[in-house]
Amino acid sequence: MNIIKAKGYDEMSKMAAAIIAAQALRKPASVFGFATGSTPVGTYRELVRLFGEGLVDFSRAVTFNLDEYAGCPASDPNSYVAFMRGNLFDKANFKASYLPDGMAPNPAAECLRYEKAITEAEGIDLQLLGIGHNGHIGFNEPDDHFAFATQHIKLTDSTIDANARFYNSRDEVPKYALSMGIGTIMNARGILMLISGADKREIAEKALHGPVTPRVPASILQMHPDVTVILAVD
Ligand code: F6R
Repeated sequence: MNIIKAKGYDEMSKMAAAIIAAQALRKPASVFGFATGSTPVGTYRELVRLFGEGLVDFSRAVTFNLDEYAGCPASDPNSYVAFMRGNLFDKANFKASYLPDGMAPNPAAECLRYEKAITEAEGIDLQLLGIGHNGHIGFNEPDDHFAFATQHIKLTDSTIDANARFYNSRDEVPKYALSMGIGTIMNARGILMLISGADKREIAEKALHGPVTPRVPASILQMHPDVTVILAVD
């Protein structure tokens, strides 16, 4: 693992955007895996700036997001597709961008379809990740085994509590999501994980330096051959 310590959120975001832009410059037809949440917002802002200045072009790049809430239409501002459009897709020129379809009538079939679409795109070159306070990546929650492929997942209480900040009441927070599996994430050729905030220091320590266990899903990244982590937790 290549662990970089950034001086703060802005520095982390600039470093992450530089790595993503470098990937697009090196391989214009890259396949990117993207994440939602608070952590990558600054990275997307910086990517939009680099694109606006003509320093990077994404017209041949394709993206797959980690996850989407089940039962959440694209018209819902809390959907991940709305988040990605608002923060990045409407402001840069990606060739095509995909998320799992949260409204698919048969979520299990949608998970299979999504996994197949990633395989048909010849896999992900660079997967961007955040981390949950419980160590989740995507919506792969602590469990007694690692989920292999894209799955329809019941969110844990701690994740529902964390997501409640975006809703008027906890009852409105989606309880299920469609998420890439740990296997999907581990198949990415490169991984860029961002960890920001003093409240993530403890889980960062466990994930990066503790035992590899499905109880801390992100710990599996210790087994991946090409992971860069940018930490802004001080
Ligand atoms: C988002 C995702 C999640 C988040 C994690 C951290 O697509 O899959 O794993 O990366 O919950 O969220 P933030 O960045 O809001 O702390």
